[in-house]
Amino acid sequence: MSPLELSTDDVAANESDDVAAADFVVVANRLPVDKEVLADGTVRWKRSPGGLVTALEPILRSRTGAWVGWSGVPDSHDNPRIKGLQLVSVPLSADEIRDYYEGFSNATLWPLYHDVLVKPEYHREWWNAYVDVNRRFAEAASAVASQGALVWIQDYQLQLVPKMLRMLRPDLRIGFFLHIPFPPVELFMQLPWRTEIVEGLLGADLIGFHLPGGAQNFLYLARRLAGQATSKGSVGVRSKFGVVQVGFRHVRVGAFPISIDSSALDAAARSRTIRARADEIRRELGNPRIIMLGVDRLDYTKGIDVRLRALQELLLEGRIEPSDLAMIQLATPSRDRVQSYIQMRADIEQLVGNINGRFSQVGHQVVHYMHRPVDRDELIAFFVAADVMLVTALRDGMNLVAKEYVACRGDLGGALVLSEFTGAAAELRSAYQANPYDLDRVKDAIEEAITQDKEEGRRRMRSMRRQVLAHDVARWAASFLDVLASTQDEVTASANRRVDLVEDAPIGGDD
Ligand code: ADP
Ligand code: G6P
Repeated sequence: MSPLELSTDDVAANESDDVAAADFVVVANRLPVDKEVLADGTVRWKRSPGGLVTALEPILRSRTGAWVGWSGVPDSHDNPRIKGLQLVSVPLSADEIRDYYEGFSNATLWPLYHDVLVKPEYHREWWNAYVDVNRRFAEAASAVASQGALVWIQDYQLQLVPKMLRMLRPDLRIGFFLHIPFPPVELFMQLPWRTEIVEGLLGADLIGFHLPGGAQNFLYLARRLAGQATSKGSVGVRSKFGVVQVGFRHVRVGAFPISIDSSALDAAARSRTIRARADEIRRELGNPRIIMLGVDRLDYTKGIDVRLRALQELLLEGRIEPSDLAMIQLATPSRDRVQSYIQMRADIEQLVGNINGRFSQVGHQVVHYMHRPVDRDELIAFFVAADVMLVTALRDGMNLVAKEYVACRGDLGGALVLSEFTGAAAELRSAYQANPYDLDRVKDAIEEAITQDKEEGRRRMRSMRRQVLAHDVARWAASFLDVLASTQDEVTASANRRVDLVEDAPIGGDD
């Protein structure tokens, strides 16, 4: 097991419901483990999907604390235990999963915050479920947090929790981090409940985004929406340089680009077993000249179709020989009852079928598509084996996969093709960057990556590794939590002190 693998072997249901008060509490829609009930009724806990868990799990391991979240199945009251981590489960009913999770979170907010790639749906019953479930998360966090504890609320599913929790527990220090992009003002203004969301977030002491642009959008909206409410007798809001004044409180707003446990990945990728497995993967693929790799949740934001179309055209134009190439697409199943995901999966599987139908030979398949999660060591071996990593997201808050690939290439081999519309693009300047809407540019970027001069490739990889190894997830968490820890002092300090969290926040962290 790699150092990053969640030791789900150690996960067991807690026999008692006793919950000890914690000084540090993470609140996220999902627990780090996902419950699976097998046909014979046996319960198994797997690692939960997505980058939020990848990033936060090592942080929680290095501090003692509690994690409040949902187990991934309906009506589960189990509080599973993982060594060193206190998990507190928030049960959701089947109706709440439909309306709060699949509905408002993933068919309203997710597409709205990702450039309206799919049309967001606005339904009042989904909103009502979102309010109710957010309240239950706030109550669960309130029950587990010790006096004066630090509570860190995560992501778009829980944007009302900061305000709700502050009303229940004014003694707490509350942080909020958004793991997805914060949308442009014009798009956010579509949301019928835009004022409630902004006011919900303003319950935090510190609100973090990946990029300064997201923070700036939020600051503008805080002034415009929450401030507007003054005439109706609600809060008066003034914002300045990354600090929003809400009545007598100061809410700080900043950019904190998230990262990964880079050195653990770097070490794992250098291990003899992983390197041997990477060689074996190449052999199993028939020793092709080029191995290309895509690793994503099966989500329409990831642009899996973009890279497949680019590949198809490159093959059709004879710019890549089919016999030279093996492309592996790993796609973790995701939100598979939401209509837009069902449709996208069918489209992608058809594209894979078209490419293989046209270009594969007996004994040589061009695209290998795996619709399942793979375990961590196997994933690292894929990263080590891949000559070209394809990250072609149409919009992505950060994209940890791009950073994981770089962290795994201590040999300075490989090349990264990276969409301009990922948060990671701001840091990984030496990738072969492309606008994913410009298919010709994507094709050119892939060709440049395939044909790169070895020395040039090493230079690019070295430069990207410098960034990823120096700015790891521990540094990300420390930079957020240090600012959060200092917010109490700020409240009592001079109201006019200038804090440049937005304008001056450098891409890549806290230096
Ligand atoms: P998102 O959070 O939107 O899913 P990220 O790229 O930020 O996207 O994070 C995805 C995380 O999930 C990464 O840690 C990545 O390694 C992991 N992951 C994605 N696909 C798979 C897969 N098929 N098998 C195992 N892990 C995966
Ligand atoms: C992204 C989101 C997370 C989410 C993850 C997996 O990383 O930012 O909040 O947990 O995707 O999605 P899911 O809907 O399966 O939790």
